[in-house]
Amino acid sequence: MIRLEHVCKTFHEGTPEAFEALRDISLHVAASEMVILKGISGSGKSTLLSIIGALSKPSSGSVIVGNQSVAKLSDLHASHYRRDTLGFIFQSFNLFEELSVEDNVALPLIHAPITHDEAATRINAALERAHIAHKRKVRAALLSGGEKQRCAIARALASDPKVLLCDEPTANLDSQNARAFCDNLLELRALGKTIIVATHDPIFETLEGVRVVPIVSGRIDS
Ligand SMILES: Nc1ncnc2c1ncn2[C@@H]1O[C@H](COP(=O)(O)OP(=O)(O)O)[C@@H](O)[C@H]1O
Ligand SMILES: [Mg+2]
Repeated sequence: MIRLEHVCKTFHEGTPEAFEALRDISLHVAASEMVILKGISGSGKSTLLSIIGALSKPSSGSVIVGNQSVAKLSDLHASHYRRDTLGFIFQSFNLFEELSVEDNVALPLIHAPITHDEAATRINAALERAHIAHKRKVRAALLSGGEKQRCAIARALASDPKVLLCDEPTANLDSQNARAFCDNLLELRALGKTIIVATHDPIFETLEGVRVVPIVSGRIDS
């Protein structure tokens, strides 16, 4: 489902010398696989997710997701790729606090080429799969941390993406909510989602059937 070959990312901003954030990363992720990018802060995990998500471009190397080459997409095609293929889940939830749960979940579908009925069906399915349907009318500002992350999962699922990219998703959750989050990801994997989680939370290593990929100083540590 995802094939990275020899991906490098060098930053030139802010440092006198170029900084190699990713060095020769080759990684293949099968459909319905769950991969944990494990590494300390600064090791390059978010940079790698941003390249898979076509939010930034690699300095060299190739990135294939589904059957699409995403390393050199124009901004417009990158935004279509993200909308159609990816769901993002972040540590900080990134919800619109004044909007209801269901309106947050509806946002990614605003420009999708689907009918109103189809959108409603997808929103309902996403709310159910993220176990947050019972709070659909509540403003995001009023949710607990665990509920906010469930709302964020539902938003990521609204477009029925093949791939979920999660960046430190449990960093703001207590251990019980982190556990529930992990269980929800396993359910989504069982539904066929391909999942990549960047994290240093050891809870992910306890999950059955996940592959842990250690990232050290921008390299896969093997
Ligand atoms: N836009 C940027 N410009 C310069 N350096 C960056 C930029 N983005 C990230 N970095 C550097 O790349 C390294 C990896 O960052 P990041 O991928 O965010 O690590 P992680 O997510 O593992 O904590 C860090 O040293 C960070 O400072
Ligand atoms: Mg990070």
